[in-house]
Amino acid sequence: MRLESCHNFHDFRALAKRRLPAPIFDYIDGGADDEVTLRKNTASFGRCDLVPNILRGVEAVDLSVSVMGQKLAMPVYCSPTALQRLFHHKGERAVAAAAAKFGTMFGVSSLGTVSLEELRTRYGNPQVYQFYFHRDRGLNRAMLQRAKEAGINVLLLTVDSITGGNRERDLRTGFAIPFSLTLAGMLAFAIKPAWGINYLTHEKFRLPQLDQHIDMGGDTMSIGRYFTEMLDPSMNWDDVSAMVREWDGQFCLKGVMSVDDARHAAEIGCTGIVLSNHGGRQLDGSRTGFDQLAEVVDAVGDRIDVIMDGGIQRGTHVLKALSLGAKAVGLGRYYLFPLAAAGEAGVARALGLMRTELERDMKLMGCRSVAELSRKNLRFT
Ligand SMILES: Cc1cc2nc3c(=O)[nH]c(=O)nc-3n(C[C@H](O)[C@H](O)[C@H](O)COP(=O)(O)O)c2cc1C
Repeated sequence: MRLESCHNFHDFRALAKRRLPAPIFDYIDGGADDEVTLRKNTASFGRCDLVPNILRGVEAVDLSVSVMGQKLAMPVYCSPTALQRLFHHKGERAVAAAAAKFGTMFGVSSLGTVSLEELRTRYGNPQVYQFYFHRDRGLNRAMLQRAKEAGINVLLLTVDSITGGNRERDLRTGFAIPFSLTLAGMLAFAIKPAWGINYLTHEKFRLPQLDQHIDMGGDTMSIGRYFTEMLDPSMNWDDVSAMVREWDGQFCLKGVMSVDDARHAAEIGCTGIVLSNHGGRQLDGSRTGFDQLAEVVDAVGDRIDVIMDGGIQRGTHVLKALSLGAKAVGLGRYYLFPLAAAGEAGVARALGLMRTELERDMKLMGCRSVAELSRKNLRFT
């Protein structure tokens, strides 16, 4: 199977599975506990039908949207994800370059493997920096300052990872940073030598968002210990409110689900929220962003940009979320499997296919611009 034969999410997933050692593939593919929420994220879209209109003169379609002050040429962006250079040696550079080519935004994780400064300097498209809240307030301030100086467009605080999710696939393979593979995990690496050669012949794996501030080098700090020892589970609304004031710019909370929390986010001055269950990797059995979208948009959609992510595999999924009132939609595994399959060319192909699907689906829906999508286009089954 080659990149040119990848026509959808499932094709990219199959190619990524062939290229990656199984423990890394499972880290991307898996979710928490019984993976109920992971499956439901995509299944939710199946309970909603699109009702097209006809004869509307749709020769040209405008896919652009404005979200949190950023103009995007299409209504999807690459959500921040950890450890991208493990999936392909170009990692975040490949994702940022492909997102730039399609005029959209990309996120850089706190657990990113290329520095936010390098990405900001090399690519001109809007950049989100995903932040975790540390016990050490001085450290938080220093990291915010660094992001400000780098010219980050949107600060995004992830609030659904106050403790790590129970990812049993990773327990079985021993996937962790630094690696602590089980025997089966080691064998899985041994049978994918091409990945190993690539990994060893490119620049050393680093976590540059953190290792300037925390001693992550020399394997002194594992990611597991980073979550349990460095992050602050006592974080509350007052802390976030202070952070919003300090940042004094576009500020997004990622991992909101309830209407009450959405209202609170609007009250403390957040400019965006992402309805997200972290791709089914945290609280299994939790609600999906898509299922929760209508009530949150009704409550706060006039005050704050409501975004969703989770389970997006098709242009029609995006159109359903936009019709309910989402301002934009985040992609996770949709671009990660292409990254693992073929680096920048893979992500660019996936985003290109998404753009083509969105244009075609908008025409078939009888809509010339995203503003023309509405709940009148939807029926729930
Ligand atoms: C491998 C992987 C790593 C992720 N790392 C992060 C992260 O570091 N920070 C974060 O806020 N979200 C992270 N996420 C969640 C994504 O940003 C996004 O919310 C999720 O992937 C959306 O679901 P989807 O993969 O079904 O599209 C990660 C997701 C995956 C699959």
